Formats: sequence, structure tokens, C-alpha cells
Amino acid sequence: MSEVDSAAVTYGSYLQVDQLLELQKPRSEEHDEVLFIVIHQVYELWFKEILHEIDRVKRLLEVNEAHRAQHTLKRILTILKVLVAQLDILETMTPLEFMSFRARLEAASGFQSDQFRQLEFTLGRKSRQAIERFTAGGRAHAALEQRFAEPTIWDAFLGYLAREGYAVPDTAVTRDVTAAITPSEEIQQILISIYRNDPKNSEICERLVDLDEGVQEWRYRHVKMVERTIGVKIGTGGSAGAAYLRNTIGEPLFPDLWEIRSRL
Ligand code: HEM
Repeated sequence: MSEVDSAAVTYGSYLQVDQLLELQKPRSEEHDEVLFIVIHQVYELWFKEILHEIDRVKRLLEVNEAHRAQHTLKRILTILKVLVAQLDILETMTPLEFMSFRARLEAASGFQSDQFRQLEFTLGRKSRQAIERFTAGGRAHAALEQRFAEPTIWDAFLGYLAREGYAVPDTAVTRDVTAAITPSEEIQQILISIYRNDPKNSEICERLVDLDEGVQEWRYRHVKMVERTIGVKIGTGGSAGAAYLRNTIGEPLFPDLWEIRSRL
């Protein structure tokens, strides 16, 4: 075999399988800890992919490529369905099985997932406090700083609607992108008109509602899994556990898209 052949790309070298399989380091001898690690790692990979796709949606909206933006949104929604479905696997772990290694997690918690916070930031739920929980100078801190300053997917959508000729108020187009997304009567009027007269853009609105609902669905399923696995025990991340998580459910990301529904 020549030197060139021996350096040929293989399944293992391309996907870095050896390195990947080295990354699961259980802290106990308990059988279920491997599942717990694998599932969280898989989530982190999907978070990475979703962020990659959301960045694409924003770029496509910025150049008015509505059709491709919608296609990419559909991909994100399909991944979200998988994210929710994966919780079924973890629910095969009983409370006692989880308790057998939970103490070994110490203060580690999904609460510390910077990619989940990045996802929230890019969807409009930003918090300076959330950035400060990460070490300054580190990867997570820098990534969150960047996403904090960037326009959200909602801002990209409003900019797109303005370029499509809709009278999006200047205050909305030039709003402080670090602030929370709040309901706006003027935007709601535009959305009502889109739903009634503009099938192309109403499809994008529907995909954004799907995205919003998909994230809420994940939150709901996660809290139910938490309730059945640890009941009302406090979280390893130090929060009140299920009570904290229940408070994050039900708040829409894009309130205008929900408020118009009873007026259509
Ligand atoms: C037995 C399984 C699980 C239990 C008992 C559990 C428990 C909890 C609890 C109690 C919290 C609240 C924060 C805290 O004090 O720790 C939390 C937050 C969180 N968990 Fe889980 N979790 C589980 C599985 C997962 C999985 C598989 C993921 C996937 C990445 C995940 C992602 C998150 C995220 C992102 C948060 C932060 C949510 C927010 O702040 O809105 N969790 N989890």
C-alpha cells in the first residue's frame, strides 16, 4: 500500500470515531450512567447542529431567500421532534436507577449547557446573568457574548418583512436586539394581513410557530421526566428543580404570532 493509500479517508478517520468513543467517562460502575452520558452528548451535538441551521435561516432571511429559509426551518423542526422523542429513552431509567449514580454528578446539570443558552439567545430569550455563570475568557462565555449581541431570528424575520414591503415600524427594525421580544400591535396588524393575503409569508409564520411550540414541547416533556425521576427534589444545578422548570413553560418566544390567533 502506498503512503497516499494509507492516508485515505475512512469512516473512522472522517468521523473521528476513536476520539468519539473515548469521550464517555462514567463516574460510577452503575449500568445506566452510560446511557445518561450518551444521551446528553447526543443532545449537545444536536444543539450544535440546530444553532448551525438557525444561523443559516437568519442569513437566508437577510437576503430574502424565503423558500430556502423555510426549507431550513423544516429541518430544524424535524431535529426538534427527535430531541423530544429522545426523552422517551431516558424515561426507561427508573428513579432508583438514576439515584444509584446521581450523587456522582455533584453540581453538574443541564442548567450549565451553554449551547442550550445560545439557542435561547438566538430565539430571543437573552440574559446577561446567564453569560456570567460561565468563566470569562472561555469558549462558552465568548459564544454567549457573541449571541447576546447578535440579532435574534425574530429580528431577521422582521427585517425580511420590511424588505418585502410591509410597514414594519422603525422602532422594531432598529430595536435593541439584547432586549426581550415584547408584543406589538403594529406587528400584529402586519401578521394578520399576511395570514389573510400572503400565503408565502404565512407559511414562514407557521414554521416559526412550530419552532416556538417545539421548544415549549421539549420544556414540557423535560419537566415531566424530571418529576417522574426525582419528584420535588432540588436540582443538581441548585435550582428548585421541577418547580423552577415549570416556570419556564408556556411563555412563547414570539408572542405576536400567538396573540393574533384569536383575531384571525
Ligand atoms: C434524569 C434525567 C434528567 C433530570 C432528572 C434532569 C433534571 C433537571 C433539573 C432539576 C433541572 C433544573 C436545574 C437544576 O437545578 O439542575 C434541569 C435543567 C436542565 N436540563 Fe435536565 N434533567 C435530566 C435530563 C436532561 C437531558 C437529557 C437534557 C438534554 C440536554 C437536559 C437539559 C437540561 C437543560 C437545558 C436545563 C436548563 C433548563 C432551563 O434553565 O430552562 N436535562 N434538569
